[in-house]
Amino acid sequence: MRRRAEQLRQEAARRRSVRNFSPRPVPIEVLRSCIGVAAQAPSGANKQPWTFVLITNPELKRAIRAAAEVEERAFYQERAPHTWLRDLEPIGTTWEKPFLEEAPALIAVFAQLHGATPRDRHYYVSESVGLASGFLILALHQAGLASLTYTPSPMRFLTQLLGRPRGERPYLLLPVGYPSEDAKVPVLHRKELSEVLVEFPP
Ligand SMILES: Cc1cc2nc3c(=O)[nH]c(=O)nc-3n(C[C@H](O)[C@H](O)[C@H](O)COP(=O)(O)O)c2cc1C
Repeated sequence: MRRRAEQLRQEAARRRSVRNFSPRPVPIEVLRSCIGVAAQAPSGANKQPWTFVLITNPELKRAIRAAAEVEERAFYQERAPHTWLRDLEPIGTTWEKPFLEEAPALIAVFAQLHGATPRDRHYYVSESVGLASGFLILALHQAGLASLTYTPSPMRFLTQLLGRPRGERPYLLLPVGYPSEDAKVPVLHRKELSEVLVEFPP
């Protein structure tokens, strides 16, 4: 038990968000298995309020990039508060999102606000879809794939491009693949366990 817990901690510590992808294709069945892991997440009243859209065709990836960059340009050039841009500086992101085309696969995660009809309520939708997304990100990493948690704002364009119903909201978009040869990640600090863990008794 101790060994398995520590192994997973070490594996999780090696996960980084990647923004530069190799065009090398990924096995589609691996992606399906990882989405299958995400679908095992706990959810409010077991409503499983999530839809995963797996995209590998280049035309659709190109269209998603184009639509995302329209929003991103407006965000970086007009909408983003000064403090937000300052926090993004060390990460080095800009309005350009080539990874949306370069990554061999994109997984769009949608939150189902309700079931088949609005009377079929879903509970704790955001929490549940966040948990499923966490399962997905770790599953991809442990399968040997890199991903980026990408949240263009607003991302309504995904609803239209991917033909999702009105009762679903785009939640996040994950480019997935292998890092490119020259991929770089910013140097980041993770909080120590002692900074995030409070124990009783101390
Ligand atoms: C909810 C959420 C939204 C994020 N949105 C973006 C994004 O839009 N663009 C981006 O480049 N990174 C995004 N990130 C990635 C974070 O910048 C990244 O996780 C953080 O800097 C820590 O780096 P790491 O994932 O390599 O540990 C997002 C992460 C989370 C959890």
